[in-house]
Amino acid sequence: MKTIAIISQKGGTGKTTLALNLAVAAERSGQSTVIIDLDPQASAKGWHDHRQAEAPVVISSQASQLSKILATAETHGAKIIIIDTAPHSETSALTSARAADLILIPCRPGIFDLRAITTSVDLAKLSKTPAVAILNAAPPRGTLPDEAEQAIQAIGLEVSPIRLGQRAAFVHSLTAGQGVLEYEPSGKAAEEINDVYLWVRKQASM
Ligand SMILES: Nc1ncnc2c1ncn2[C@@H]1O[C@H](COP(=O)(O)OP(=O)(O)OP(=O)(O)O)[C@@H](O)[C@H]1O
Ligand SMILES: [Mg+2]
Repeated sequence: MKTIAIISQKGGTGKTTLALNLAVAAERSGQSTVIIDLDPQASAKGWHDHRQAEAPVVISSQASQLSKILATAETHGAKIIIIDTAPHSETSALTSARAADLILIPCRPGIFDLRAITTSVDLAKLSKTPAVAILNAAPPRGTLPDEAEQAIQAIGLEVSPIRLGQRAAFVHSLTAGQGVLEYEPSGKAAEEINDVYLWVRKQASM
């Protein structure tokens, strides 16, 4: 079983969007996948409530229960665990980071996001788990994403070679209780999620 923690101390960077879409991709590739929703806002759980399919399973929980849930999931044959975390909750993010094989830090290519990313990077370093940033909601034109990538690398964090663009499909699919692979399988967003998923599999040897 492999565990991926999605953390970012800044709100709205795309943690839940990435968690749900990666989980759908993993499930579709035949890996039994569980999402652990540690955000008291329970967005991932809410998504599952609007979903027709049962898989991937979403478990709403607290960080203090994490090790117990991970052990139970493994006993039940889960192959991939994706932990969606809350912003502004360092203890919960650190617990998740420590329990994970790989940390993903989604970041929008904006100045406020870049300034805020250092807290998440510090948490990742403290956990000693490998961490990678993923640029999310990148605009189709302009130099902003490249500049953001350089700024993140300059503070010592690796950046995923695959970016997620600013795309309506990411918004509409989640409203419909789906991932972009289900909502618009031949769209650009689906292509990006497929690529990110394959890349994450390689990074986490899963
Ligand atoms: N690549 C994208 N393109 C377009 N919209 C996006 C993209 N990624 C995320 N969004 C939208 O941005 C908003 C915030 O995304 P999301 O909820 O995934 O962030 P979050 O980091 O989980 O937020 P929070 O910190 O509140 O938990 C949502 O409305 C989502 O639909
Ligand atoms: Mg969220």
